[in-house]
Amino acid sequence: MIPNQWYAVLPSQKVKKGRILAVKRLNLDLAFFRTKNGELGCVTDQCSHRGAALSAGEVRGNCIRCPFHGLEFDSSGACRFIPANGKSSTEDLSRYHVKRYPVREANGIVYVWYGDEAKATETLPFFSNEIDGSFSWSEIEDLWNSHYSRCIENQLDVIHVPIVHYNTIGRGNKTLINGPKVIFEDGVLLTSANNEKDVGQKPKPPKDCVIKSTYLKFRYPNIWLNRISEKVKVLIFFAPVDDEHTVLYIRFYNKITNARWINAAIAWLGKYMNRVIERQDKRVVITQRPKASSYRSGEKLLTGDGPILLYRKLRDEFQRKE
Ligand code: FES
Ligand SMILES: [Fe+2]
Repeated sequence: MIPNQWYAVLPSQKVKKGRILAVKRLNLDLAFFRTKNGELGCVTDQCSHRGAALSAGEVRGNCIRCPFHGLEFDSSGACRFIPANGKSSTEDLSRYHVKRYPVREANGIVYVWYGDEAKATETLPFFSNEIDGSFSWSEIEDLWNSHYSRCIENQLDVIHVPIVHYNTIGRGNKTLINGPKVIFEDGVLLTSANNEKDVGQKPKPPKDCVIKSTYLKFRYPNIWLNRISEKVKVLIFFAPVDDEHTVLYIRFYNKITNARWINAAIAWLGKYMNRVIERQDKRVVITQRPKASSYRSGEKLLTGDGPILLYRKLRDEFQRKE
């Protein structure tokens, strides 16, 4: 995990008002909750008293209440009430506080800050210059038995497209890989496929390739976008569960027509297209060993793996820097 980053971990609609949701993310057992006035909280899913899962409790006003002895905690993790001590108690409750994780949401995504809270940044990773409220979208999710680094690399992999997706998005037998060109600018890794049919020509080196109008963008630590066209985009956030599991949330965005209901219907269909492609990827990616990738691995990368190499290099740098 790269420390000191906002990780996209859940769709907003999963955390319902007045409910607590237990989820494992970032190798942590977390309890997400939304108070009745809509405020979002995220604390460790373990009571400071005698270890019960807070997620098995309930939301009470602005607090969650442990199911065991009823200790109440607010969204900052502070203990606010201990029934056994009674309402008249004046005890300092700070020793009962539970760890909370800074949590924010935007664009229908819940983000958790992983690292030093004092370093939390204002901006959340997204592609605001690509997607705005004029798009209709749909979402699917799937759990992969893979480390999130492998899932991300798969989405930056232009070589696998004609092989894994030979009968879908990789139709046409374009197995020869030019470049690809890859750049890292303003926190975004940008690349695009330049694949061709192999008729005996030599592949072009990355420097002779261009970023085409259909491109891939990745923003650390875990969000990716495929600009298929101005009006059609696919976004994925890769929610790390633990060292061997990741939940992919895959969204299909479009504004193809001027009628929102037609775009919504297209988005609904796009969901199924994404599902087919995602399953083709998953079948192979979950077999990769080791589960996590690394910059200093013994893997024998090809020229066409340029985006993957850059992803690994930067990830390695960010991990060391923090
Ligand atoms: S274990 Fe939570 S109140 Fe006792
Ligand atoms: Fe793929």
